[in-house]
Amino acid sequence: MMTGRVFKKMNKFNFMENDEFNFDEYVKMIKHHQENNDPTGWFDNVYEVAKGDHTKVFWADLEPSPYLVEWLKKDIVKKENKTACVIGCGVGDDAEALSEYGFNVVAFDISPKAIELCIQRYKDTKVTYIVADLFDYPKDWFENFDVVYECNTIQVLPNEYRIKARVAMSSLIAKEGYILVSCRSRNEGEKEDAIPLPLTKSEMDEFIKTDGLNEISFLAYDDNQTPRVPHFFGIYQKGN
Ligand SMILES: C[S@@+](CC[C@H](N)C(=O)[O-])C[C@H]1O[C@@H](n2cnc3c(N)ncnc32)[C@H](O)[C@@H]1O
Repeated sequence: MMTGRVFKKMNKFNFMENDEFNFDEYVKMIKHHQENNDPTGWFDNVYEVAKGDHTKVFWADLEPSPYLVEWLKKDIVKKENKTACVIGCGVGDDAEALSEYGFNVVAFDISPKAIELCIQRYKDTKVTYIVADLFDYPKDWFENFDVVYECNTIQVLPNEYRIKARVAMSSLIAKEGYILVSCRSRNEGEKEDAIPLPLTKSEMDEFIKTDGLNEISFLAYDDNQTPRVPHFFGIYQKGN
């Protein structure tokens, strides 16, 4: 939990001034929090500097993942009253896509400002947007969701928090449910001090080896930015 003292310190990092993004200040802010054992204390600041305008959140694509939409079109989860959970939902595009395809969606983020933006952006939404911490989620969410969607949360966390995050994500999946994991990727041993720190294939494989999920599909691809950024999109299923 972020204390007032840490928050004041954080504000000395001016990573966004007059709509100009300053990467060095951004990295300093993150490192400051990570070194003070407060690895999630800076997220709200990214949404705060957007000043109520979701289009100003620099990491938001403002559209759902095409790989999520492609999977949704296959209509794999046939049950009635199907439930989905979106982790670190940001400004809500993926949550709304799941809702459009008939899921009852809970979308959560540790950042109150992110959740405020979602509620303000989707006035007639069916999605339940809620401030919650993946590391301390409500107990009744345990193994509760037919689909769990994760996009880019693990990669903004350091060291052991990445492992804790993956384990917590897997614990949200109901029996026979799915998790879809979208993230940047890197080769083993590459760019280990990068921010964000993309995932290696062996980190992805822990969903199988440690959490006991079955791999349904795994895609490694480069996105269409210039220069292109390598990504993974993995789909895993829990047994019954
Ligand atoms: C890089 S952003 C990605 C946001 C969104 N998924 C997207 O793809 O645009 C990571 C998100 O995870 C949220 N987050 C980080 N740690 C979290 C935690 N422990 N519990 C819930 N949300 C968390 C952050 O606030 C942020 O919105």
